Amino acid sequence: MSLVPGSVRPRRLRTTPALRRLVSEVRLHPADLVLPMFVKEGLSEPLPLSGMPGVVQHTLDSLLEAAREAVAAGVGGLMLFGIPEHKDPIGSQADDPQGILNRALALLHDHLGEDTVIMSDLCLDEFTSHGHCGVLDSAGAVDNDATLERYASMAVAQARAGAHVLGLSGMMDGQVAYCREALDAAGFTDTVIMGYTAKYASAFYGPFREAVDSELQGDRKTYQQDPANGREAMRELGLDLAEGADVVMVKPGLPYLDVLAEVARESIVPVWTYQVSGEYAMIEFAAAAGAIDRENAIEESLLSFKRAGTDAILTYWATEVAQRLQAEAAGTTAAGGAAA
Ligand code: PBG
Repeated sequence: MSLVPGSVRPRRLRTTPALRRLVSEVRLHPADLVLPMFVKEGLSEPLPLSGMPGVVQHTLDSLLEAAREAVAAGVGGLMLFGIPEHKDPIGSQADDPQGILNRALALLHDHLGEDTVIMSDLCLDEFTSHGHCGVLDSAGAVDNDATLERYASMAVAQARAGAHVLGLSGMMDGQVAYCREALDAAGFTDTVIMGYTAKYASAFYGPFREAVDSELQGDRKTYQQDPANGREAMRELGLDLAEGADVVMVKPGLPYLDVLAEVARESIVPVWTYQVSGEYAMIEFAAAAGAIDRENAIEESLLSFKRAGTDAILTYWATEVAQRLQAEAAGTTAAGGAAA
């Protein structure tokens, strides 16, 4: 008698690489990957980040070069973050057409045109001296409605500079509707709004602070979501959809796969996820210490997002993984060709 009841043997479908490939429920594609990039004003050469081995703050020149490399690898888009030389309490450089982020957007738009999707972080924390995502009231609290005015002005400036997608990452109430209205009034009816629908007050943004030279005073717990709350993400989803978000985002990725899965089930617009700086650092440092296999860990983490239902992933490994996927696809084609 068989030890396995009936003839049900799930292992049957795992016997060969070809069978496993055929029955895989999700797969990675370069077009699903978006590369976040940092560009810093006043740099003479790219500056490596100690908290994110392999990631740099770019000069305008090195940004364009890295953008071209990413586009050649077939990535779905580029997400830009700018770091100005001079920060002030209202983040004046954020909506200045000559501000570093807007100049970088214009540069990429001029050179890459409509061949790739250019995205822009729409938030004030890279630009403010206090490091908060908004402007402060007289008591030092982040002033939601005064911040919306700043975001609206940034939205128009970024659209004018050439951004196709605006990533509203500040977590102010009403930001999607407010920016949509400002964009439409300025004639930018086709500029896409990606709402950071569920964005948590996360320790996993740690290395990002170095990446944008932020010296945050305090924390972001009055505007970013509490890690204890999942239901709240669905409330945010309802609001972002009602306000007209074209795409919604869940961030960070790995610690919030449950939220991602639920948002992906309920959303009527594309859902993206952000594998953030701390997730990147975890895998890089664990691999450097010999504790885990780097490439397999990267692939497994990306597959987990697809399995949870994401449509695209912002990841600092976008170019590397896209290149690997391209090479694998070329290898498969070559083998097929040889056999024929
Ligand atoms: C806000 C913003 C942050 C990140 C992306 N957009 C920082 C924050 O909210 O504290 C973090 C991204 C990362 O950690 O990779 N502008």
